[in-house]
Amino acid sequence: MTLPAEESTVSTQAPKIKTKPGEAERTKVTVREFRQKKKDGLPITMLTAYDYPTALAVDRVGFDAILVGDSLGMVVLGYPNTLPVTMQDMLHHCRAVSRGASYAMLIGDMPFMSYQVSVEQAVANAGRFLQEAGMDAVKLEGGRDRAEAVRQIVAAGIPVMGHLGLTPQSVNVFGGFRPQARTSSAAKRLIDDAFALEEAGIFSLVLESVPARLAEWVSQKLSIPTIGIGAGLGCDGQVLVTHDLLGLFDRFTPKFVKQYASLHSVMSEAFASFKDDVESRRFPTEEHSVSIKDEQWQTLLKELNGS
Ligand code: KIV
Repeated sequence: MTLPAEESTVSTQAPKIKTKPGEAERTKVTVREFRQKKKDGLPITMLTAYDYPTALAVDRVGFDAILVGDSLGMVVLGYPNTLPVTMQDMLHHCRAVSRGASYAMLIGDMPFMSYQVSVEQAVANAGRFLQEAGMDAVKLEGGRDRAEAVRQIVAAGIPVMGHLGLTPQSVNVFGGFRPQARTSSAAKRLIDDAFALEEAGIFSLVLESVPARLAEWVSQKLSIPTIGIGAGLGCDGQVLVTHDLLGLFDRFTPKFVKQYASLHSVMSEAFASFKDDVESRRFPTEEHSVSIKDEQWQTLLKELNGS
């Protein structure tokens, strides 16, 4: 069935970004490129995006992957953590991202309670990310407890990215957003979880806020690539939350974030300038206004004056 353009959720268009003469042809990044990059010792790059313009910008720069993270609950929707995020929220934002990105691998983050209740529900919900929202893969949090869900999702033909360490959906178990695996026993548990997930079929593993030495050790032992966030240079790739990187908040910024811009202050200055222009009647000027020809205006005035 062909949906009218407005109802269609998944882009079926050919890649929209033309390569310039002399520029290397770009092809869609898949799990194969992830594997190859690890083999070649080339860092994998990933950023989060939650909307169309950000997806366009990230894709144009040439990132390997875009994660539509459930972090959107915090950085876009204003929740205190990721727990309230629903499948509907995720699919809505994934669709916007899939309309903006042509080359990056698109990974949809499975929200809290969309994969924990049963393996069947996990498979069905994972499928929705690909079928209804244009994603190429899904990510889910947790270790060996999630291995069966991973196995069945992969068996259904859906690539799965794992996520260990500071897994935000377990914030209440951790008692806050705090670094993980800092004791030898916790580090050993993380290692066992990583092997269990690899064995279950994940194509890549996010390691968040864990000791750099541990992340490096795990990265060397696994055959699949690891993507670090607050996990040091020894990972096979790096990811950051785009809103953190851009400095879109002046609120809390995790220690492991490097801010590459301070867009919060840029935004505040622009808003204040607009408000000031409006209040002092400096905006709009003629340049920002719609005109009407004199003769049309005079005709109207005559008509209004009844002459
Ligand atoms: O939700 C998210 O953005 C994430 C990244 C921090 C890896 O899980």
